[in-house]
Amino acid sequence: MSTPEIRTVANTVELAKEAAELFVWFGQQAIARSDRFQVALSGGSTPKALYSALASPEMSRQLDWDHVEFFFGDERCVPPEHEDSNYRLAHDGLFSPLKISADRIFRMYGEMDSPDEASRSYEDVLRNRFGVSAPDWPRFHLILLGLGDDGHTASLFPGTPALREETRLVVPSMSPKGIAQRLTFTAPLINHAEAVMFLVSGTGKASPVRDILEPRQHAEVPLPASLVKPEAGRLLWILDRGASAQLTMAKQQVVPHEE
Ligand code: 6PG
Repeated sequence: MSTPEIRTVANTVELAKEAAELFVWFGQQAIARSDRFQVALSGGSTPKALYSALASPEMSRQLDWDHVEFFFGDERCVPPEHEDSNYRLAHDGLFSPLKISADRIFRMYGEMDSPDEASRSYEDVLRNRFGVSAPDWPRFHLILLGLGDDGHTASLFPGTPALREETRLVVPSMSPKGIAQRLTFTAPLINHAEAVMFLVSGTGKASPVRDILEPRQHAEVPLPASLVKPEAGRLLWILDRGASAQLTMAKQQVVPHEE
């Protein structure tokens, strides 16, 4: 398991820029190596600024978007046009501006009546696109993640059965806030990625960030995001000053962007 690479930037604008540059870099590497870039997007509101940065003329011309396959690490169980849909945020901020072809966008079917059926159908999509059968795991080039103030990531919430899943790729989950019913990648699927990148902004996340990156001895139950430990991949945390505020000074150094 690799040591987390922590990059602290000044603010949300710099966070989006750093994340966009890394997204493009990972994409260029993947396309050069395997002729495609299979990336899972995160949910919540933080990615909005990332999408805007990626869709900018300066950034968007740096990646061959026809070779990018978009997936989602979690979804709320709502229709795709719903204001809380993670797919809708990406559609409006990234897919539509860049005119991404629908046949390279693989959303979770949050609108299905049965979340279990929806999660199993998404597992089939993943196995098909990655060409792997159980017990092998799809290996994403990059998985983007956010962090909740309770330490959740994707839709892996504290105290839920999804945290203990060891064989399935995608499972239904329940959120204590907002849209309750969710679909989420499982921890083992995330941990099989080549690279995982957390994007975290704001002082409201400083406490879980510290608990995850600088755990105190004999900490109580680990937070869900602590389960993210890529077995053979890179783990990056891109933090703004607010999110890194409770880390030791050494980890708060604002770093210039480099690969
Ligand atoms: C979701 C997310 C969730 C999100 C965090 C951070 O569907 O809500 O996947 O894990 O990334 O809650 O959300 P913000 O970016 O809005 O702070």
